[in-house]
Amino acid sequence: MYPPLADSIGNELRLKHGREYLIEVVLNGMAGSIEVKGTTYTGLMPEFSSLSDNEIAATLNQVLTKFNAGELPKDFTPITAAEVHTKGARGGRSCEVKRLRFIAMAVVAVTLAIPVIAHADPPGELYMLNCWGCHRPNGEGIPGTAPPLKGAVDFLLVPGGREYLISVPGVALSPLSNEQAAEVMNWILKTFSKDRLPADFKPYSADEIGRARMTHLLDIKKARAALVTEMVAAKIRESEKQ
Ligand code: HEC
Repeated sequence: MYPPLADSIGNELRLKHGREYLIEVVLNGMAGSIEVKGTTYTGLMPEFSSLSDNEIAATLNQVLTKFNAGELPKDFTPITAAEVHTKGARGGRSCEVKRLRFIAMAVVAVTLAIPVIAHADPPGELYMLNCWGCHRPNGEGIPGTAPPLKGAVDFLLVPGGREYLISVPGVALSPLSNEQAAEVMNWILKTFSKDRLPADFKPYSADEIGRARMTHLLDIKKARAALVTEMVAAKIRESEKQ
């Protein structure tokens, strides 16, 4: 899913304006596909302009020195917070180099997410770091890429649906601990489905997440379609298209 960082972005520094591009991709996010070493990667990354200049500089330096040590130019000096601030990157200049933008997705996913998550962030922040790239800031989803989360609550009303919500790859295979995944899932249901949450809703516990994320649904799309068919039969949803 994510392009390799190793032996890849160190080279970007050699390009004219490479430093600015790297900063810019983290600030502005991107969507699309790029090719790195013969493999095409498709995906999305959220924009991280909410991060401080310090956090962005630290992330880029970590990736550059950890994964790209061999490729770093001899005269490489760490990217500073002041540079992030003053390069004008925050102005949102459009970036022509798609590949560079895409690399930031990996920057964010691989390094940044991990140290931030380690500090027991509130669930909204865990959502931002792990989920909103696909499900978007208000859970509205992206047609053809990720379903809206507003309707996730409907799955609680059909047999197997509660477990299904955890067995999707976005949750089961996420870097979140069982406690964090429980927090995020409860937050999603309470935030995006506020008006539809059943009165007797029992929040997910870490134990329940641990069990459900071990369930490997062989065909997630088929499992989802079967649950939606049941929702329509039980008049929870009006059509299978929702
Ligand atoms: C790479 C894109 C992507 C990311 C990142 C992602 N998801 Fe998803 N999510 C999907 C897709 C696609 C589906 C539909 C099921 C499937 O095909 O996996 C889905 C389905 C779901 C569902 C079930 C809703 C339904 O209508 O089927 C829930 C709940 C969910 N995701 C939560 C999360 C949470 C929580 C995170 C972050 C920890 C997350 N997802 C991260 C793409 C993503």
